[in-house]
Amino acid sequence: MAEKTLRTPRADAGRQPSAAESSTAVGLDAVQVRFRTKKKDVTALRDVSLGVASGEFVAIVGPSGCGKSTLLKLVAGLLRPSSGAVRLHGEDVTAPRPDIGYVFQRAALLEWRTVRRNILLQAEMRKMSADHARTRAAELIEMTGLTGFEDAYPHELSGGMQQRVALCRALLHEPPVLLMDEPFGALDALTREQMNVELNRIWRETGTTVLLVTHSISEAAYLAGRVAVMSARPGTVTEVIDVGLPPERDYTDTMSRPEFRRATARIRTLLGAASAAD
Ligand SMILES: Nc1ncnc2c1ncn2[C@@H]1O[C@H](COP(=O)(O)OP(=O)(O)O)[C@@H](O)[C@H]1O
Ligand SMILES: [Mg+2]
Repeated sequence: MAEKTLRTPRADAGRQPSAAESSTAVGLDAVQVRFRTKKKDVTALRDVSLGVASGEFVAIVGPSGCGKSTLLKLVAGLLRPSSGAVRLHGEDVTAPRPDIGYVFQRAALLEWRTVRRNILLQAEMRKMSADHARTRAAELIEMTGLTGFEDAYPHELSGGMQQRVALCRALLHEPPVLLMDEPFGALDALTREQMNVELNRIWRETGTTVLLVTHSISEAAYLAGRVAVMSARPGTVTEVIDVGLPPERDYTDTMSRPEFRRATARIRTLLGAASAAD
């Protein structure tokens, strides 16, 4: 697919800013989450602190049930912490936030709507101006290689294409923060690689801050500037690994780089051989 710049990219898009010079997009400070039900009392997260700079790409890995989805829901304002603070651009998150995009493992498209109208659903929910939304949707369709499929229905698309539609929908309102919860977990290995390459490019072009939850160690190390490794429940961030690679990453070249190997080996060690899912 030809690389196209559809919007003027921010001069600093894709660059990893140092903590001192940039604003913090997402901040979690000593966060604890407890779920109390009639039968049990589950501590999902304990003492989680993490700062993500504006424009940064951070991946989150950890065993099943360690609280990764819970962490994203806190940032989106869909859940409140039992204690500690969650901030978005320095503001306490107290309600669902309109200024984020969310992509899940399942594309969750409406079967009776075309690609374009699935993407425009975001505009309808947010009452965006119709003209602006259509222009932006057209840009995103081109950026994600969906040109020619605007009028197709979800059942006519491959799994990878459906996830591209979900990504377009999540990016329509140009959210400064994109949350992704195992977005490529249901795709075959080759499609997943292609989606990784596209996501790296889209991130660099848009300058969006990304928090990606993934089970794939190589996906985390290929895409992220930093990888937060979590422990088993009650989950906490055990270590944040600096991958140490430039933002623009050729897939094959990256896989053979010593920085990539060092990062994946460290993640694997932290997760423990038994739970390494790659
Ligand atoms: N709404 C809820 N009520 C009770 N327990 C929950 C709720 N949501 C998540 N949990 C529990 O919290 C823990 C963390 O869940 P989750 O964040 O979904 O983990 P992960 O995404 O890392 O697999 C799990 O033990 C899960 O069962
Ligand atoms: Mg989850």
